[in-house]
Amino acid sequence: MVKFTVIGGCGSSDLAKRIARKLKATYIKTEKKVFPDGESKITINQIPKKSIVVVVQSTNPPVDSNLLELLSIVSKVQKFSSKVYAVIPYMGYARQDREFLGGEIVTIGVIGKLLKASGVKKVLTVDIHSKLALKELKIPSENVSAMEVLVNHFKKMRIKEPLVVSPDLGGKERAKQFANLLKTDFIALKKHRDRKTGKVTILSGKINVKNRDLIIVDDMISTGGSIFKATQFLKKHKCKRVFVACTHALLVNDAAKKIKNAGVSQIISTNTIPGDSAKVDVSKVISDALR
Ligand code: R5P
Repeated sequence: MVKFTVIGGCGSSDLAKRIARKLKATYIKTEKKVFPDGESKITINQIPKKSIVVVVQSTNPPVDSNLLELLSIVSKVQKFSSKVYAVIPYMGYARQDREFLGGEIVTIGVIGKLLKASGVKKVLTVDIHSKLALKELKIPSENVSAMEVLVNHFKKMRIKEPLVVSPDLGGKERAKQFANLLKTDFIALKKHRDRKTGKVTILSGKINVKNRDLIIVDDMISTGGSIFKATQFLKKHKCKRVFVACTHALLVNDAAKKIKNAGVSQIISTNTIPGDSAKVDVSKVISDALR
């Protein structure tokens, strides 16, 4: 039997403990102290014994600080294990996977280099924003899907004949998979995002959602702009209730309030990022992939 040690970064300690329990692994806690100048000091409260060491840390806000914490923990524990895996349930910077406008830096590639240099042998993540981002890491990596566990949650809600909606064409396959698992139909809206201002516009024409309960499915919610605009558009077409399912609920600033004000009944996300909407546990999906 493979022996694991799980270390939870400060941003992901609850999920890390759940993964450790599933793997019957030793759990090591970390502490982070932030000095007045913004520097952080990371401490692990135990040295790992000979095993595969799994460091769990999402890189949600504070993104760079969480990333540095992950890199610091890895660079410490790689002295005691030749196999250090980074479980990054939410992978920040994955949207910066290509040069959209001239001069932009493909930062996800930089993250890959940093992970490798600190001693990471393998990366495991959940519903990464794009396949290209995974490729740009240029380090052995695996992406697991939370769609099935999210769908299981929605099955229990017993919504009658829901229509699954992707807020953009890029998410069409995700919506199709969600709808297939839920045994229902789906549509994908056409969305435009201004690359300079970030402003979102829905470009779709007339759609038939009248009197249907809807589930908008996305990989992540950041500012809430995409879900806000999609909900406004869907409500204009006289749908019934709107639910939102997503893997990573960053919900920065007043995003949750904005989404609720647009008419969304409930946001359901996974615990890749802790928060009020994180009702779906991905620890089994992650631990199954690690075994
Ligand atoms: C875009 O392609 C993504 O799938 C999400 O729709 C987007 O990143 C969400 O960002 P925001 O909540 O800021 O609109």
